[in-house]
Amino acid sequence: MKSQNELGVAIPANKPLVVRTIKEVTKEQREYALKKTEYNMFSFPADLIFVDFLSDSGSGTMTDLQWSALFHGDESYARNKGYYVLLEAIRDTFERGDKPKHSIDLVLSGETNIKKLMDELYITDYQGGFVNGGVSQLSRPNAFIVPQGRCAEHLLFSTIAPILKERNREEEYFIPNNGHFDTTEANINANGIIPINFFSANLLDDFPYDEMNIRNPFKGNMDVKALETLIQEKSVESIPLIYITITNNTAAGQPVSMSNIKEVNKIAKKYNIPLFFDACRFAENANFIKEFENGYKNKTIPSIVREMFSYVDGFTISFKKGMANIGGGLFFKDRGMFHQKFSVEDDIGIKLKEKQILTFGNDSYGGLSGRDIMALATSLYETIHQNSLRKRIMQVRNFAQKLAINGLPVILPAGGHAVYLNMDKFFEGTNIKTGDFGGVGFTIELLRHYGIRACELGPFAFEWDKKTPEQREGILNLVRFAIPRNLYGNEHIDYAVAAITELYYNRDKIPKVKISRGAKLRLRHFQTGLQPIYIK
Ligand code: F0G
Repeated sequence: MKSQNELGVAIPANKPLVVRTIKEVTKEQREYALKKTEYNMFSFPADLIFVDFLSDSGSGTMTDLQWSALFHGDESYARNKGYYVLLEAIRDTFERGDKPKHSIDLVLSGETNIKKLMDELYITDYQGGFVNGGVSQLSRPNAFIVPQGRCAEHLLFSTIAPILKERNREEEYFIPNNGHFDTTEANINANGIIPINFFSANLLDDFPYDEMNIRNPFKGNMDVKALETLIQEKSVESIPLIYITITNNTAAGQPVSMSNIKEVNKIAKKYNIPLFFDACRFAENANFIKEFENGYKNKTIPSIVREMFSYVDGFTISFKKGMANIGGGLFFKDRGMFHQKFSVEDDIGIKLKEKQILTFGNDSYGGLSGRDIMALATSLYETIHQNSLRKRIMQVRNFAQKLAINGLPVILPAGGHAVYLNMDKFFEGTNIKTGDFGGVGFTIELLRHYGIRACELGPFAFEWDKKTPEQREGILNLVRFAIPRNLYGNEHIDYAVAAITELYYNRDKIPKVKISRGAKLRLRHFQTGLQPIYIK
């Protein structure tokens, strides 16, 4: 008889104890609201939606442990107790693998032994890792808490850009990635650096839906040949950082293999360029490595996470992706390559800290409330639970499989947080072309008819019309259904599958879309007005 792990389905990992009633909104009401909000998905009131796949960012369900941790929140202005707990949780998660200290228990259990509290939490000195402690964090800060991922990106790029300009005003600088997320790309651009994507060449290859439980080609990998060519064609000095996004959200949420991480690390070391993770969905990525990469089946998720992070010099992260409703951070190795390269006259950590205080708040809360910090620290331990991760990944996989069975052009295999439709294939044989923003038309129709919100990540979001033919080649034409962690069940997925399939059968009726206001705005998909053009 098969064991519980061999059944090919997720073992139930949790159960909802609170439910929220979804409002009974009619199609006519949604049509009215769409018109009044300029057909922009980001402007539509969430309370009027049946199923919201716009983002998995900050939209997940908190666990009972997180809710209870909120009560331990300490709202002191400086050095609230959650700060120490969070730093310890980060050391545990990214550095200690199977040997976490779990010092959070001291706070949650109301430890009264002052010596123990001081020795194990409040008066400790750490150095040499991603999170200095005590005096080392004061003299060489390397851990920066911020409200969300893009704040960490802003902090990093706006601090290094002037240093680079100072070094050589004429030089063009590039930051390569296996797939920059839109805010990362925009933050790099805004600081006069050029972001480049090196997607894996096999990204859009076909993959049989019935093999998703058997193998995975790690389509999120970075094209390492292209990376090395760039370094050789430009110069080492022109590449301040190399980034790997795990999982690769822009490339259909695909995972990155440990061997790819190692290869990129080798190149980074060879040329002495710091390597960073955009680590938002590190836990999902680790699960794919465990499930599909040779040599990792019997390793634990924490030990895989530890190994992944041993290859990078630093990382930016949004903790909103399935961990907490708010939170982000920037971390780099104490006295590592990044620290050495950018600490020219002043310590780079001190510069970053000054900017953090100027823009987000004192370093021990970084724009978060003490409650948020405690909920976040708690979730770092729960995020890596094997059954809970597997539940999440299998939900995404089942959603993709159901769509594929119905004939929809889903990017396969499914990634860890979202299902993506290939809209070029979706519109094959219709009169919708790339510049018609058919993907946006599809999201408008899905919301209008069925009350489901999805997100175009294609020519509209990545500004196809503003780019040169060469730049356009790097733009994929996708619509994404992101699944917030622990929010939806089978009925939500089944309703969505039925609705998406119905629209697919009626794709010749999907409107082209015009930008009616704000086409030139930066990050315009959050702000423009749109107009669908219905054919009578
Ligand atoms: N990096 C990646 C890979 C992301 O997916 C995101 C956010 C960020 C950075 C920025 O983090 O939102 O906390 O500022 N992605 C969300 C999404 C918004 O819907 O995929 P943030």
